Amino acid sequence: MNITLEQPVHAAAIEKLLDSSFGPKRHTKTVYRLRKNVAPVADLCFVATDHDQAGNEVLLGTIRYWPVMLGNAVQALMLGPIAIDPAHRSAGLGGKLIRHSLEAAKALGHRIVILVGDAPYYVRFGFQRDLVSGLSLPGPVDPSRFQGLELVDGALTGITGMVGRAKPAKVRTAAAMATATASPVAPTPVAPTRAAAKVTTLPLFAALLPGGDMDAPVSRRRLRRAAR
Ligand SMILES: CC(C)(COP(=O)(O)OP(=O)(O)OC[C@H]1O[C@@H](n2cnc3c(N)ncnc32)[C@H](O)[C@@H]1OP(=O)(O)O)[C@@H](O)C(=O)NCCC(=O)NCCS
Repeated sequence: MNITLEQPVHAAAIEKLLDSSFGPKRHTKTVYRLRKNVAPVADLCFVATDHDQAGNEVLLGTIRYWPVMLGNAVQALMLGPIAIDPAHRSAGLGGKLIRHSLEAAKALGHRIVILVGDAPYYVRFGFQRDLVSGLSLPGPVDPSRFQGLELVDGALTGITGMVGRAKPAKVRTAAAMATATASPVAPTPVAPTRAAAKVTTLPLFAALLPGGDMDAPVSRRRLRRAAR
C-alpha cells in the first residue's frame, strides 16, 4: 500500500468511491457549499493505492482538504471528504491517511483544520468540538459533528464568526491538475492575519435546524425561506 499525492488519473476512481460511500446526493450537503468553485489543496489531497495481480493500480482510499476562511479573517483547512474502499475498512488505512495528511499540513505551515464528521472517529486525531464553539457553518449541520484541530497551539483561541468559502477558483479538473505545477493555495501564515483573499459571504443558516439532522442536504425551499 502506498500513500501518494492524488493525480488526475485517480479522479474517476475517487468520484466512484465517494459516490458509493456518501451517496449521489453528497453534493447537497452543507460542506459542499464551502467547496463550490474552490480548488482543493492539491498538496494535501492524498490517495492510498495498491496494485492488483495484473499490476494495475487500484484505489484503496482518498482524502482531500479545502481552504476555508474563519470569520472572514483567518485561513484554515477543511478536512474531507475521506473514504476508504469498503473491503479495506477498519484496517487502519483511514487513520494513516489522516495522520499523514495532518503531518503534511503542519509541515506546510497550516495552523487550523476543521471538519464535519463523526466525533467518535475524529477525537483520536485530536479534533475537538469545543475548539470551534465560536464558529458557525453556512447551512444545517448537527453541531456535535463540527470539530476543530489546532496544528499550532492556541490557533483557534478567540476565533469566531462564520466559516466561509476561500477565494473562488477554478475547480480542479483532471486537465488542470495535469498542468498544475504548484498548489493553488498558499500555506496558512504563521500568525492569523486579515486575509487578503476575497471571501464569499454565505447566508447564515447555522441556527436553522437546532439539533437537527446530520450535515443534512439543504432543501431549496428551506434556503429560500431562510433568505427572506
Ligand atoms: C470513516 C472511514 C474513513 C474510516 O476509515 P477506516 O480505514 O475504516 O478507519 P481506521 O481503520 O483508521 O479505524 C477503524 C476504527 O475507527 C472506527 N470507525 C470507523 N468509522 C467510524 C465512524 N464513522 N464513527 C466512529 N468510529 C468509526 C472503527 O470502529 C474502528 O474502531 P476500532 O479501532 O476501535 O476497531 C471509513 O470507514 C469510510 O470510508 N467510511 C465511509 C465514508 C465516511 O463515512 N467518511 C467520513 C466519516 S465522518
